[in-house]
Amino acid sequence: MEIRSELRKHLRSGTRKWAILVGIVALTHILLLLSYGDVLRYLVPDGRRLKLPNESKKLMTLSRNTLAVSVSEDSGIHVLEKNASISGFGLRNETEDDEGFDETADFESFEDAKDSVVVIKQVVESSDTLYPLEMNVKQSAEMSTSKYGYQVQDVSVESQKKVKTSMLSASSSLAASSVGKLPVSGNSSLLVSKQVSKKKKMRCNLPPKTVTTIEEMNRILARHRRTSRAMRPRWSSRRDEEILAARKEIENAPVAKLERELYPPIYRNVSMFKRSYELMERTLKVYVYKEGNRPIFHTPILKGLYASEGWFMKLMEESKQYTVKDPRRAHLYYMPFSARMLEFTLYVRNSHNRTNLRQFLKEYTEHISSKYPFFNRTDGADHFLVACHDWAPYETRHHMEHCIKALCNADVTAGFKIGRDISLPETYVRAAKNPQRDLGGKPPSQRRTLAFYAGSMHGYLRAILLQHWKDKDPEMKIFGRMPLGVASKMNYIEQMKSSKYCICPKGYEVNSPRVVESIFYECVPVIISDNFVPPFFEVLDWSAFSVIIAEKDIPRLKDILSSIPEEKYVKMQMAVRKAQRHFLWHAKPQRYDLFHMVLHSIWYNRVFQAKRR
Ligand SMILES: *[C@@H]1O[C@H](CO)[C@@H](O)[C@H](O)[C@H]1NC(C)=O
Ligand SMILES: *[C@@H]1O[C@H](CO)[C@@H](O)[C@H](O)[C@H]1NC(C)=O
Ligand SMILES: *[C@@H]1O[C@H](CO)[C@@H](O)[C@H](O)[C@H]1NC(C)=O
Ligand SMILES: *[C@@H]1O[C@H](CO)[C@@H](O)[C@H](O)[C@H]1NC(C)=O
Ligand SMILES: *[C@@H]1O[C@H](CO)[C@@H](O)[C@H](O)[C@H]1NC(C)=O
Ligand SMILES: *[C@@H]1O[C@H](CO)[C@@H](O)[C@H](O)[C@H]1NC(C)=O
Ligand SMILES: *[C@@H]1O[C@H](CO)[C@@H](O)[C@H](O)[C@H]1NC(C)=O
Repeated sequence: MEIRSELRKHLRSGTRKWAILVGIVALTHILLLLSYGDVLRYLVPDGRRLKLPNESKKLMTLSRNTLAVSVSEDSGIHVLEKNASISGFGLRNETEDDEGFDETADFESFEDAKDSVVVIKQVVESSDTLYPLEMNVKQSAEMSTSKYGYQVQDVSVESQKKVKTSMLSASSSLAASSVGKLPVSGNSSLLVSKQVSKKKKMRCNLPPKTVTTIEEMNRILARHRRTSRAMRPRWSSRRDEEILAARKEIENAPVAKLERELYPPIYRNVSMFKRSYELMERTLKVYVYKEGNRPIFHTPILKGLYASEGWFMKLMEESKQYTVKDPRRAHLYYMPFSARMLEFTLYVRNSHNRTNLRQFLKEYTEHISSKYPFFNRTDGADHFLVACHDWAPYETRHHMEHCIKALCNADVTAGFKIGRDISLPETYVRAAKNPQRDLGGKPPSQRRTLAFYAGSMHGYLRAILLQHWKDKDPEMKIFGRMPLGVASKMNYIEQMKSSKYCICPKGYEVNSPRVVESIFYECVPVIISDNFVPPFFEVLDWSAFSVIIAEKDIPRLKDILSSIPEEKYVKMQMAVRKAQRHFLWHAKPQRYDLFHMVLHSIWYNRVFQAKRR
């Protein structure tokens, strides 16, 4: 059998420990999941995974691994396509794959499709949290790995247990089952969650222990604007001078009077934004590292939940205006990997172990920093990455610590640094060829529903939302997951187009595609996600076109929304429409569109962080 000979090959050549380890893991899976032939084939290529992309052409396992995906290059558009013969792997069923349905099922499907899932439970000594596996790190940040699918079970969180790992077999259907007894506040003595049939399952599904309010985030931003925490470059460069000159110009921006092109209320400071944007157009050059093989590098996925990283990658690599061939001319350096493809290619299904993903990026970073002088000059402070996958904060920690990270999972408790990192909008692209399908919504006077939400019960928060508002009030249309099917999908979109406020509660992670969806359908977003830094925080004033509500205020949701005067609502709705263009992808980028906004925020933060030698 091909698999066995593959495996033998790995063991023979396995001078390195990891190869054997991976082999053991793979074997374990083979034993456990014998009935899933496809899984076997998926696992086998692991052996080569940790090699640097360029070391071995064979690393590009995806072509061998046709069972899983086909990366089609249809007129230059990459779309991850589900191979119908593989149920439950990779991307979801197209019908489910829609807004408001299952924004994270992408990952879930790994587990949901299985009848037997291996769950590893670990209690870290004298900790009040459960740490998944390798993450015996102090920060609670590490814990926001909710999609690891741990549910707290029979564990006294405050107890002082020894690190203990036990393997349990669990059955599927996790999402709905955990609705019952979830904590409403950050009470760390949270214990039991509902038993899923007779088998057990755990989830780190706790509310955050600290809450950073928007006001506090504003203060942090102001502080970091005053004093940069970036290191001084190891040697000076002409580019630093250009960046610092731009900073001066931005800070002394002429006050934009009678602004026609931009709608001032939605910006923190429209004059500074406009000036900075123009300077970016005039000055900025980006070097895109060529290193790294497909599919983890240079393979933009333009559809689905993580499309933001794909669209940015595609448009950045194609940009004639902003890229340079000579890295010495660059102000910024782009490391073009896809966190989504990293998971897709390297994550060992059901392993609950992402160490190899992080290791892979670490080796890539070391490669870049030893081959070129640029990374070491600033310890990566003028390097950036754009990643929408939830695991990206974890995968890029330490070795990419000083880089500018554009992340969908913009969680201040997971290491997101306001003033340096960029909150990347999560956009759910359904049609790669027409990312603007169904754009727009009804005018305020025709929006009859006060508030709308429909979606799966991911994370602890949505259960609380439903508990308070499902079937409680005719003005509050708060539902669970919508049924599958086209009619239901259209209904979902119609609801967004005809509601005043669209509720965007966090899922497993702080980000939600609903924020951009709301803006797309011209519904005022109501963000309920403590510690979430809203997109383009450094330039936009979210209070002009959204309502941000603390998680603890869910019981008062209706009071809060109905107390907003109609006049103010109309203004906010208008501002949503004015902000809309900043959240749209175009195959050919347009001024002030989403591509340019991401690039601008990276530029803007760099400008304010840069230092002289
Ligand atoms: C990657 O491989 C190509 C061709 O195989 C080679 O020309 C190039 O120098 C390699 N890059 C690195 C960083 O080793
Ligand atoms: C799907 O996978 C099967 C094998 O599992 C393969 O024969 C088939 O060609 C694949 N289809 C696509 C579209 O890749
Ligand atoms: C996928 O969608 C089809 C309808 O297009 C449906 O019949 C099928 O049950 C779905 N499969 C899953 C796994 O949800
Ligand atoms: C947590 O809940 C327990 C009872 O379930 C209660 O005694 C305790 O005071 C709560 N702690 C906090 C911080 O709310
Ligand atoms: C915007 O920034 C400019 C330049 O720093 C400053 O002169 C102006 O007062 C600022 N406007 C507001 C509304 O803060
Ligand atoms: C996770 O995987 C790495 C290798 O990728 C291995 O060294 C480590 O022991 C694994 N952790 C656990 C808890 O299995
Ligand atoms: C950059 O620093 C790393 C580690 O500090 C070192 O291994 C590498 O050789 C350096 N790169 C260059 C080009 O000197």
